Amino acid sequence: MSNEQNGGIESTLHETRVFPARPAKELGFDAWHVGTIDAYKDMHHRSMHDPEGFWREQAAAVDWFTPFEKVLEWNAPDAKWFLGGTLNACFNCVDRHVKAGHGDETALVWEGEPLGVHTGHPAPGSNYEKAPEIRRFTYRDMQRKTARLGNVLKSLGVKKGDVVTIYMPMVPELVVAVLACARIGAVHSVIFGGFAPQSISERMVDAKSKVILTADGGWRRGEIVPLLKNVATACDTLKGSGDAVREVFVLRRSGQDVREQVESIKAGGARVTWYHESVPEASDECRCEPMGSEDRLFLLYTSGSTGKPKGIMHTTGGYLVYCAMTARLTFNLIPARGQLFWCTADVGWITGHSYVIYGVMANRVPTLIYEGAPNFPENDRFWSIIARHKVTQFYTAPTAIRTFMKWGDDLPAKHDLSSLRLLGTVGEPINPEAWMWYHAHIGRSRCPIVDTYWQTETGGHVITPLPGAIATKPGSCTLPMPGIDAAVVNEQGHELPPNSGGLLVIRRPWPGMLRSVHGDHDRYVKTYWSRVKDPRTGQPFYFSADGARRDSDGYFWVMGRVDDVINVSGHRLGTMEVESALVSHPAVAEAAVVGMPHEVKGTGVCAFVTLKPAWLKAEPGRAPDDALKKVLGAHVAKEIGAFARPDSIRFAEGLPKTRSGKIMRRLLRDVAAGVQKITQDTSTLEDFSVVAKLSADED
Ligand code: WTA
Repeated sequence: MSNEQNGGIESTLHETRVFPARPAKELGFDAWHVGTIDAYKDMHHRSMHDPEGFWREQAAAVDWFTPFEKVLEWNAPDAKWFLGGTLNACFNCVDRHVKAGHGDETALVWEGEPLGVHTGHPAPGSNYEKAPEIRRFTYRDMQRKTARLGNVLKSLGVKKGDVVTIYMPMVPELVVAVLACARIGAVHSVIFGGFAPQSISERMVDAKSKVILTADGGWRRGEIVPLLKNVATACDTLKGSGDAVREVFVLRRSGQDVREQVESIKAGGARVTWYHESVPEASDECRCEPMGSEDRLFLLYTSGSTGKPKGIMHTTGGYLVYCAMTARLTFNLIPARGQLFWCTADVGWITGHSYVIYGVMANRVPTLIYEGAPNFPENDRFWSIIARHKVTQFYTAPTAIRTFMKWGDDLPAKHDLSSLRLLGTVGEPINPEAWMWYHAHIGRSRCPIVDTYWQTETGGHVITPLPGAIATKPGSCTLPMPGIDAAVVNEQGHELPPNSGGLLVIRRPWPGMLRSVHGDHDRYVKTYWSRVKDPRTGQPFYFSADGARRDSDGYFWVMGRVDDVINVSGHRLGTMEVESALVSHPAVAEAAVVGMPHEVKGTGVCAFVTLKPAWLKAEPGRAPDDALKKVLGAHVAKEIGAFARPDSIRFAEGLPKTRSGKIMRRLLRDVAAGVQKITQDTSTLEDFSVVAKLSADED
């Protein structure tokens, strides 16, 4: 089995300690939702033996307009959950709390990146002082804001079931935009603000989305991210075609002059509407549309091993029940108990959907959003935020933790982190060094760490410690969530004995699972439900595309992707996407991209590139040199986004291939991993001819 992530961070620390679950009171919780290992085991056992009863109970945590009649209809691999029920996700996160008398409680706390600017529209170069801008919103505020924006969206012609694209900075209006879509029954498709114009247009065309919500810019590390400019470029690509963008809705955030972009969008035939001109005028009355349980809630594009990113489709009832349950159990969310939950993920990724917005707000626990970078103005910004707002649960990615480790122990030590009760990680395997550092320096050897394993496709956590019940081992995501039948199996679907590496599968459906790949149901069936089957019944298992092993305690250790997807700083990236970006440059004949170990990112991007001889000859001075590497790196950043820029580009005369013409990726992975240690990237050509001949029949 090939394994990209195994090439990731190599652990030098051998940490075999087990960290037992601690009493809730010692950490400042009144109680745990699941407080003993036996309670966990009973709950999991029950969920396996009476799944309908179990999920019926979980579904009761959500407010239904019409009760469902049937828990599950399973025609593998098509699942329908909570049939006949109607509900609304925005109502569950906002209106029902107002209705129950909690309208004045805090729903959302936001901190902007710039310091000393309190207008909401800071001008570059103004006189910064030391205080950040902070805004708080109650459930009543959120109700009013989602209702107004919902009405504006309707006035722009958005109807129930239409896909609305959202490309916004991490500001409160982004949460409002997501929930306003849910409110009126529009399907949101959020695109991470780090993506380039090409990625916006591709996703809008695939989703048949004609409406985009964006901002004039967003703040990141003291600079303005040109969101509207990217949207204007995307609009320009699509103008005049059947896929042309119809409505561009703009929030003023950076305050920069964007007249040129606005004019260009209008000239291309789209209408531009400003937030500050339309939303304050709109009515506060906008009902929460009753949605069928299986009506789509959102699309979220994510990378796969082949072709273009796929639109993962989630539906209303199952997703909401699942992400609310997992948020409650994993983070021990309890309303009105002085909790403030901070997940540092961008809303453009699934973690932001489930654990910045839906799972947390549905549980009536306030959610914190920070707009910018962890190193603005200094490297201790996160710790100052925790101290300033008294964050109780903190959820971030291993790559961030490794960065903090590099920045030094003295930074967290300067701040009062005593409000913290629980820590979480997500996105990639965490190396024991990072786990131990997080435990000691952020958790002050007190807070439990929940290492949550899941995917865009699973909607919420599927393997994770429940903090009051499950003892943790650094580097293991421990045991399956109640309701999840996870296993490590071989290609024939047989469960493997302890400590054997195999394929990580889930053997039965769960409410939060994706329902389809937008516009390509075949791809859904092929990618997730065709590789492994139950050897007894022939029923398909859900295949995660991750490799894993279980230890003798049944704990899961995720080894990483077994397909051509890499996790770069916790951002999921298809190697194929980077390859197609590279070959779209006129100099490049062929490219092969693999993951390589990277101290901070976990996995870095390594690209092997062959150049077109004709291009090299066409002008004097053209050569496979460092300057060209820079150009190609910038090209990838422009085509996909800066996070996809290769960490290493290596020129080769030819790529090593099998006789049947397949690129020998395993070999390239080894080269990428090995060479990195020996030399700094040189610009000499790699010659694979010998190795290629030697291993011609491999792979
Ligand atoms: C990886 C992010 C090990 C895994 C929520 C998965 C992890 C991919 C963990 C999904 C973890 C996520 N331990 N690996 N705790 N969490 N992964 O769709 O390879 O962006 O398949 O969802 O991240 O990435 P995605």
